[in-house]
Parts: sequence; structure tokens; C-alpha cells
Amino acid sequence: MSDKRPIGLLDSGLGGLTVTKEVIKQMPNEDIVFIGDEARMPYGVKTKEQITEYTRELVKYLISQDVKVIIYACNTATANALPTLKNEFSIPMFGVIQPGAVAASLSTKTKYVGVIGTEATINSKSYSKAIEANDPEIKVLGIAAQKFVSFVENDEADSDDAKKNIAETLAPYKDPKYDTLVLGCTHFPMLKPQIREVLGNKINLVDSGVETVSYVKDYLEANYLLTDNNKNGSIKLHATGGIKEFKRLAKDWLNIPVDEISLVNLGDNK
Ligand code: DGL
Repeated sequence: MSDKRPIGLLDSGLGGLTVTKEVIKQMPNEDIVFIGDEARMPYGVKTKEQITEYTRELVKYLISQDVKVIIYACNTATANALPTLKNEFSIPMFGVIQPGAVAASLSTKTKYVGVIGTEATINSKSYSKAIEANDPEIKVLGIAAQKFVSFVENDEADSDDAKKNIAETLAPYKDPKYDTLVLGCTHFPMLKPQIREVLGNKINLVDSGVETVSYVKDYLEANYLLTDNNKNGSIKLHATGGIKEFKRLAKDWLNIPVDEISLVNLGDNK
């Protein structure tokens, strides 16, 4: 048994492409439909109600594209919207926080874990709760790094402003008792070189997206839902705004041919 329908992914913007890239790597034959809500990003400074409403529209859009599962390639939507939306839709939906939290709990030897994410993710305490549920001895220090999102979206990661902000934000994790840092925002793997420059190579950087994709792959395999295509899957990327910049940065990041990059209007799926 198999299922040829695409895998759907959603994010507020470019960050979800770090997860998309991982789907391409781990499941190259799967078709992919991605939607980034560039028109309304960043989500990290919005209320839970707003994030839930926007995410609901993205989910409806992906369902209209006949996807078989949906990956929330966004920590902010996972923390703030997934628990509510799970009760509204029957399609299997996967968030990035639980797999990232499990990986962090298994990685730390010192039992001190850092988590960086958007304001809404850190305020939700979703990571601390999930990590502490795995191992109550682990101490979690969460820090909101909302500006990192704009450094990625505006392609400014190497600017002086960005360098200064990244160094200041990450300073508490220079304490060697922190042996693990969760990149609790899908935009942040795009800043790995800048983060390593501040924290060095010793600390283990947990990429929640990578952990999630391997979890989803196991799920699809166990439920006979992987495709039986034996050629590379098609990749369709959609954004709700800022399409010119999105196209440029998406092509740069994925660095492989993409079948379609287009602007969508969510109006019809509300
Ligand atoms: N990439 C998103 C995340 O993982 C959100 C960034 C934002 O829109 O603030 O949380």
C-alpha cells in the first residue's frame, strides 16, 4: 500500500523551508506543497488567537491541495495553534516541538538546556514543559530571539546589527554548563554559522525540524502512506505575499530546482 498525495508544510515565512529541505533529504520521492504566510509574518509577536486563526487558514489551504499529512514547520504555530486545531481537523498534523524536546532531553549530559524561539513560543513555555516532562531534572533556560527572524527574512544575517544582537542574546549560553541549545524556531537553522561563531562547536544545536521529519517518516512508513514514486518528488512553494524576495531566498536556500513558486490568495479557503 502507498499514498501518492503530497506532504503539506506550513510556516509564517521562510523558516519552514529548513524543514522542507529536510523532507527532500529524508523522503526525496515525496511530492511537497509548502505555504509560507509572508503577508502576515512574523507570527511570534501575535496573540494566540491570531496565530490560531492564521494557521487555520493555512491548514484549509493545504487540505484544498489534497495533502496527506501536514507538518507545522513553525514552532510558534505548533505551540499556539496545534492543540486547538487538532480538534477541528481529522487530517494527521505534526508539530515540531515534541520531537525537538525529546532530542534535547536525550542530548544533554549536564542537564542544562537552552531554548531560543520567538516571543510567542518562549512565552508559551511549551519547550520547557515538554523537556521537563521527559526528565524533571533538566533545567531549561528559554530566551526569546524574535529579531533573529527578521535577520533571516531580510537577508541581514551578516550585518553588524545582527552580529551584535546574536552575540548579546546568546551570551547566557556561553556558560559551559549548557551543552545543548534547541533552535526552537524554524528560521534559526539558517543562522547556524552565526550562532556557532558566538557559542563555538562544543554545544549541541538541536534542529527540531530534522527530528520532526524523521518522526513523520516513521509514521508514514508504519501506516503504509509513503509514496511508491521512484523519481524525485515535485516541489511546490506558495507564499501569501512578498513573492519576489521569497523566490530569491527560497531558491538560494533549497539550492535545487523547484517546480513552482507562486503567490496564493487565501481568500477562497477562509
Ligand atoms: N518560523 C517560525 C517558528 O518556527 C515563526 C517565525 C515568526 O513568524 O515569528 O516559530
